[in-house]
Amino acid sequence: MSERFLITGGAGFIGSALIRRVLAGTDASVVNVDKLTYSATKTSLATVSGSPRYVLKKIDIRNRVALNRIFDEFRPTAVIHLAAETHVDRSIDGPSPFIQTNVVGTCVVLEVATTYRQALAGTERERFRLLHVSTDEVFGSQDINTCADEASPYNPSSPYSASKAASDHLVRAWGMTYGLPVIVSRCSNNYGPFQFPEKLIPLTIIRALSGSSIGIYGKGDQRRDWLHVEDHCDALMALLNAGRIGDTYNVGGGAESANVDVARAICRILDKQLAKPPGTHEALIKFVEDRPGHDWRYAVDSEKIRRELGWRPRWTFESGLKATVLWYLENRNWWEPLLKNRYQGERLGRSFLPGL
Ligand SMILES: NC(=O)c1ccc[n+]([C@@H]2O[C@H](COP(=O)([O-])OP(=O)(O)OC[C@H]3O[C@@H](n4cnc5c(N)ncnc54)[C@H](O)[C@@H]3O)[C@@H](O)[C@H]2O)c1
Repeated sequence: MSERFLITGGAGFIGSALIRRVLAGTDASVVNVDKLTYSATKTSLATVSGSPRYVLKKIDIRNRVALNRIFDEFRPTAVIHLAAETHVDRSIDGPSPFIQTNVVGTCVVLEVATTYRQALAGTERERFRLLHVSTDEVFGSQDINTCADEASPYNPSSPYSASKAASDHLVRAWGMTYGLPVIVSRCSNNYGPFQFPEKLIPLTIIRALSGSSIGIYGKGDQRRDWLHVEDHCDALMALLNAGRIGDTYNVGGGAESANVDVARAICRILDKQLAKPPGTHEALIKFVEDRPGHDWRYAVDSEKIRRELGWRPRWTFESGLKATVLWYLENRNWWEPLLKNRYQGERLGRSFLPGL
């Protein structure tokens, strides 16, 4: 019998990539439960929106009544929970929506899923599972010699990562207490096409393209491990198919880089693509006051998912970054309206800095 996936947050960056992947590569059907916040882009799903196996329901995950109805009508075989407020800087300016969606919303998803599963019988009940998508940020900053593995302690630093950590704990508690079959994945920084232009890579690209200054926080020496969104979707599919119930898996790209080096690499690609003299775009880089509570380094050990499920990233960071820059060059019609209507690339996350 074909799978029926209920995907929360499917109009976001990772969710839309996952939905495109599911509909193209399997016979599963998908209901996308999304509130359509500022970071949602229905245009990311243009290639699948006419599919008879796809439906979008504009719903806030905190809306228990509406969510119950979706579960009853769609009868999912699995839930992939991605809906969240996701931008660290926005969590500094206004933490409450992060608590509301990431913590309260996750609680509602868990409660509704538990009630739904309890009413299932036989193989329907046995196959049901909930995959919760979390982040390497829950482990907090790592020093240069450490890599968080699945047993590492939580140490979140930002309102965003604290809210994700709280949601992870809720998911685990629902597994332990109510027997809900849950799997938790914690991935590193995703990049790729269709990412809302507030995050480092797309923001750098669009600032460089418009000739505006490219603000790099502090000294730009913060280190992140970059994972192409398609590789992440492969990992999520592997976890849905063969992940151990009740377990957690780290998913890292194995491509660590300092933020300023990422920005410089983007500038070099743009110089070449736009036939500009070397250094043209890099001259736009400007070091600005650091983000408060900025973690220096994230690093996860993803040996477990590699060993147990045979997953590994297919993109190198070099090829993935180049393909991503080319995608933004060729798809202005996707991101230009976002800049006009939703976010103009201004600095966020400064409202609590002293002197403001
Ligand atoms: N992007 C990354 O690098 C990254 C890394 C690690 C983990 N994650 C996690 O992956 C998930 C998806 O991240 P993303 O980058 O695609 O985020 P995104 O901001 O692009 O998308 C989030 C989606 O969730 C929806 N949403 C927000 N609040 C909602 C609510 N109350 N009810 C229903 N829908 C709501 C939004 O409308 C949006 O479509 C998040 O849980 C995030 O914490 C992301």
